[in-house]
Amino acid sequence: MTQGVAFVTGGGSGIGRAAAVALAGDGLAIAVSDADLDRATETVQLVEERGGQAFAVLLDVCDEAAVDAAVQETVERYGRLDVAVNSAGIQGDLAAVAECTLANWERTLAVNLTGTFLCMRAEINAMLAGGGGSVINLASNFGLVGKPRIPAYVASKHGVVGLTKSAALDYAQRGIRVNAVCPGPIDTPLLRKIAADAGPQGEAMRREVEESVPMGRVGESDEVAQVIGWLASPAASFVTGTAIPVDGGFVVG
Ligand SMILES: NC(=O)c1ccc[n+]([C@@H]2O[C@H](COP(=O)([O-])OP(=O)(O)OC[C@H]3O[C@@H](n4cnc5c(N)ncnc54)[C@H](O)[C@@H]3O)[C@@H](O)[C@H]2O)c1
Repeated sequence: MTQGVAFVTGGGSGIGRAAAVALAGDGLAIAVSDADLDRATETVQLVEERGGQAFAVLLDVCDEAAVDAAVQETVERYGRLDVAVNSAGIQGDLAAVAECTLANWERTLAVNLTGTFLCMRAEINAMLAGGGGSVINLASNFGLVGKPRIPAYVASKHGVVGLTKSAALDYAQRGIRVNAVCPGPIDTPLLRKIAADAGPQGEAMRREVEESVPMGRVGESDEVAQVIGWLASPAASFVTGTAIPVDGGFVVG
């Protein structure tokens, strides 16, 4: 018997994958959704190899009907929804405001902010039907402080923090806790792509990123997944509306 049911977006990679594996380890059945079905299926295999229960679902979080259908499929398969982890996200292009294209702005906001909203709406409706739950949104340390040359990402992640606070208040008396996790640089394909895009400067950029963290290193996906697992659990029963940095001290530096 499972200890609950979790729906994870961006579950095919990085933090979403680590969260899916960690929550399955805590006994939850997992819906692993991602825009890349092959990678979501790999995550399901990782869960099953460890004795857990999961299924993969193809999902673009910008597609309203598909979001509703994926959450509904989860409830039909597993009977309820207790936990949601909204990890699907993109970095967008590197460009200061004066050079930021409207296409980059709109795409980044669509995936990171509107996608999170669409998923939360479907997830919270399912949780209301089941009597409560815990929503965990992946914001960023750049949802708390600024960063040059990446305005759409920074704005989208500040938006995710605001959305988290607003939803926490809406459902505080209805059994649903809503929190955000704000990772610093974490060693995932997303971070590796930033270094790769920088070409010959990639190695220097990686060192610069490490030096920007007071702990002097980047984090691992599992270090974020452990905080997600705690927020999902009854151990965090009085915690809602928070935006928790998991960043080696970055935002206080
Ligand atoms: N890695 C970091 O350093 C870092 C730091 C702070 C915040 N974050 C945030 O954490 C989250 C996860 O990041 P990650 O590093 O694991 O990234 P990742 O690139 O490893 O994984 C992101 C996943 O999201 C999926 N995805 C992208 N667009 C999608 C869409 N439209 N619909 C559904 N799925 C989509 C991708 O296919 C991928 O599997 C993101 O929201 C990211 O902004 C990451």
